[in-house]
Amino acid sequence: MRSELSVDHLLGIKYLDKEDIELIFKTADHFKEVINRPIKKVPSLRDITIANLFFENSTRTRLSFELAEKRLSADIINFSAASSSVKKGETLIDTVNNILSMKVDMVVMRHPNPGAGIFLSKHVNARIINAGDGAHEHPTQALLDCYSIREKLGSVNGKKVVIVGDILHSRVALSNIFALKLLGAEVKVCGPKTLIPKHIESLGVKVEGNLKAALEWCDVANMLRVQNERMDISYFPSTREYIQQYGLNRKILENLNKEIVVMHPGPINRGVEITSDVADSKQAIILDQVQNGVAVRMAVIYLLASKIEQ
Ligand code: CP
Repeated sequence: MRSELSVDHLLGIKYLDKEDIELIFKTADHFKEVINRPIKKVPSLRDITIANLFFENSTRTRLSFELAEKRLSADIINFSAASSSVKKGETLIDTVNNILSMKVDMVVMRHPNPGAGIFLSKHVNARIINAGDGAHEHPTQALLDCYSIREKLGSVNGKKVVIVGDILHSRVALSNIFALKLLGAEVKVCGPKTLIPKHIESLGVKVEGNLKAALEWCDVANMLRVQNERMDISYFPSTREYIQQYGLNRKILENLNKEIVVMHPGPINRGVEITSDVADSKQAIILDQVQNGVAVRMAVIYLLASKIEQ
């Protein structure tokens, strides 16, 4: 197995290969053991400084990166655009170069614009991790999702995964499709036609319009939130209609011929894409996904930091 990543930044799953993901998972296995010990910290990154730049709201990703960095003993600074000089018109490059002049080695960035991390990686001298860029990619979410499937089912290879909901606006869906396909899963997407990208089948996934058929087919259902904040018009007649056709509830699960694994990247819109009796059930691994996010992000940060020239 490869001992270092093929990339200098984590900008998207589409820039990784299968061996990169396997290396991240093996490294995450080690860090998962570490964070389950009474002393949860390792001194690996004592000489590394990381800036967490969030230009969009986040709970899981922001806190998970911060905790991963602390567990690795890195020095960290946190930046939220809402309380920064971005509000006075400062550009992204100026903002980041000012932060880097304080001797920062790595930037974790969430940004509303697709490709913001790619742009940054070409203009500044630091390792960049994309923590979600608009509707483009959310690579660490896909890595922790696949890691959680591997943990629950033993492997991703050969598993049938359906991603349900607002595929059009979802960076989670796109990164998951890339990662699942690299690891040998079969992937379908399911949702209203208006929320499925036109050329999605060119990525090697099939479209299934009927939720029950999709669930009968799959081993894993990844339920996504409808991202109203990314829509300037109503894409679907009503929330009530969405719930009727694509909402997952206990009765639907009980009527299936098998037990499937239910996932959700969060935040959950309870009662819309998934009811509480499903989200809080033993079939759902939603909090396992969150827990695994820390180990997976530790692995990504550690592997990219090992490529920094001192
Ligand atoms: N899954 C995810 O990205 O959640 P946050 O937006 O809370 O970070």
